Amino acid sequence: MTDIKKPIVSVLLEPNWAASSLVVDVRRGLGSIPRSLPPKWLYDDRGSALFEEITRLPEYYPTECERAILRDNGDEIALLSGASTIIELGSGTSDKTRSLLDAFTATGQLERFAPVDFSESTLRAAAAEIAVAYPGVQVEAMVGDFTLHVPHLPQGGTRMVAFLGGTIGNLYVEERGAFLGALADSLAPGDSLLLGTDLVKDADRLIAAYDDSRGITAEFVMNSLHVLNRELGADFDLSAFTYVPFWDSRMERMDLRLRSEVPQRVNIPGASIDLDLASGEEIRIEISTKFRTDGIAQELSAVGFSVTKTWFDQDSDFAVTLAHRV
Ligand code: AVJ
Repeated sequence: MTDIKKPIVSVLLEPNWAASSLVVDVRRGLGSIPRSLPPKWLYDDRGSALFEEITRLPEYYPTECERAILRDNGDEIALLSGASTIIELGSGTSDKTRSLLDAFTATGQLERFAPVDFSESTLRAAAAEIAVAYPGVQVEAMVGDFTLHVPHLPQGGTRMVAFLGGTIGNLYVEERGAFLGALADSLAPGDSLLLGTDLVKDADRLIAAYDDSRGITAEFVMNSLHVLNRELGADFDLSAFTYVPFWDSRMERMDLRLRSEVPQRVNIPGASIDLDLASGEEIRIEISTKFRTDGIAQELSAVGFSVTKTWFDQDSDFAVTLAHRV
C-alpha cells in the first residue's frame, strides 16, 4: 500500500490581492472607452456555479469534447510527454484532469501534481480529494493567477503544463503571445505543454453555445456586474442591461458584451469612480477566441514550442495539442 502524501498548498497571492486587483481592473477597464472588464471576475462562487451549469448545457459542446479527447488519449499523452509532474493552470476542480491522472499513474510515471488556481477554497478541496484518490502522488497546489505566476511554477523532473478548457481563448492576441512566451521561458527542453483549444466552426453553433436557450450564459455574464455591486458597492441597475453575444468573424472570436439600454450614471465607490454610460453603450466582458490547427502550431513555434501531436474529438470541434519545449 502506498501512503497518502499530504498536499502542500502555497498561496502566492497577497491577502488583499483580489480586492486591490479588482479596483485596478475596474478603473482601467471601465474607465476607458471602449469599456471592458477582465473575465476573471466572472468566477466568484455564484459565477463558478453558473459556469458549471453552462458546461452541462446541450448547446455548450467544448467541455464534453475535451473530456472525450482526454479520456480516449490519456495513455498516449502520458507516453509522449514522458512527464513525472503535471502542472495544471486554472485547474478549478480538476475534474476532466482525472483521466490524465489515471493514465499517468497507470504507467507509474507520475510523481507530482501541481494545480494552480486563484480560488483558494476550490483549490484546497480539489487538492485534498486528489491526494486521497492518487496515493503516492505529491500534490503541490498553488493559489495564484496563472498569467502572473508562470515564473514560479515548480521546478524539477520532466514537467507537462496542462492548460485546458479553451481558456487561452479568453486572452487577447498580444496577451496570448506574452503568456505563451513566459511559459516557454519557465520550461526546460523536454518539458511540454498540453493545450486545449476550441476550434473555428459554423457561426450558428458558436452563437448557440454562448447564447443558450435557458439564458444561463446571459446570467453568467451579467453576474460580473453583481460582483462589482457587492465588492465595490457599485449601483449597476442590472435590469437596464441586455446581454449581447456576437461572432467576430474577422478576429475569429466570440465577443460577449453587456449593453446599457438607457443612459445611466453608475457610482462605484470602492474604485472611487463614477461611470456615465450612454444609451446603447456596451461593456465587453469576455472574448472567447476560436482557433485553427495551423494557427496554434504557428503561435507555439513562435515562442519555442514544437507540436508533438494534436488530438480531436469525433467531430473535430475541439483540439488538445501536446507541444514540447525545444
Ligand atoms: C471557461 C473560458 C473556456 O470561453 O467558452 C463559457 C467561458 N463564457 N460561456 C469559454 C464561457 C461563456 C469559457 N471558458
